[in-house]
Amino acid sequence: MKEVLKLAIQKKGRLSERSLTLIKDCGISFIDHRGSSRLKSRCLDFPLELLFLRDDDICGYVADGIVDVGIIGENIMLEQAAEVVLRKRLGFSRCRLVIAVPKDNPAKTVADLAGLNLATSYPRVLGNFLKEQRIDANIHEISGSVEIAPGIGLADGICDIVSSGSTLASNGLRELHTVLDSEAVLIGNPKLNNAKTEILEQLEFRIDSVQRARSTKYIVLNAPNYTGKELYRLGQNIV
Ligand code: PRP
Ligand code: ZN
Repeated sequence: MKEVLKLAIQKKGRLSERSLTLIKDCGISFIDHRGSSRLKSRCLDFPLELLFLRDDDICGYVADGIVDVGIIGENIMLEQAAEVVLRKRLGFSRCRLVIAVPKDNPAKTVADLAGLNLATSYPRVLGNFLKEQRIDANIHEISGSVEIAPGIGLADGICDIVSSGSTLASNGLRELHTVLDSEAVLIGNPKLNNAKTEILEQLEFRIDSVQRARSTKYIVLNAPNYTGKELYRLGQNIV
C-alpha cells in the first residue's frame, strides 16, 4: 500500500484559512470539509491526508505520531514543548506574545513586574522569560479571555497574544514588553519513516516555491524609449 502523509491543520480559527490556502497554492486539491462534521480529507493529486483538529491538540498528536505533521502557531509549539521538530516557518499568522498592564499601572520596565500577579495561558513561556530576567512575579494560569483578568481584580497584568491590538485596547491595557514574536510553523514527528519523509520533503519543496513566488513582484512595463539605466531607476521607484 502506498504511504500517505497525515497533516493536521486547525479546524477553525486564525490559522485555518491561511493553512488551507497554502496547501491549495502548492497545487494540491482536496474537498474542504470544514463546514461539515467530517474531520478528514484525502488530497486528490498528492499523497496527503488533511485532518481538521483543535489547535491545542495538534502538537500532541504530532509528537505521538497520530498524525505526521501539523501547522500550528509557534507560540503554541513553544508553550506545549512537545517532542516535535520545527520543519519550516510559514510566514503567516504573525502575532506577538506580550506582557501588558492596565493603562494606569505605573510599571515602566519588566523589572517593575516583581511581586505582581500575571494572568496567562502561556505559563511555561512566561515562566521561562521571568526566570531569565530574574523577576519574581506570580503566574496565574487561565485558559482564555485573559485580557479581562485585571479588570475583574484577578491579576495585576497579563501575558497574552496580540495581533491587531484591539483586545488590549478595549480592555484598557497597554503593552509593556514583547516576550515572543510568533508565526505559523510546520512541525513534524521526529521519527517519520523514509517514505513519509520523502513525501514531506516534496511538500516542503512546493512550500518553498510558493514562498519564493510570493516574495517576488513581476512588473510588466511597455517603455520602448527608455534606456536600461532609466528602466532600472524606474524599477527602484516602483519597488
Ligand atoms: C487571541 C488572543 C487575544 C486576541 C488578540 O484570542 O488570546 O485575546 O486574540 O487579538 P487582537 O490583538 O487582534 O485583538 P482568541 O480570539 O484566539 O480567543 P481566546 O483567547 O479565547 O483563545
Ligand atoms: Zn484571547
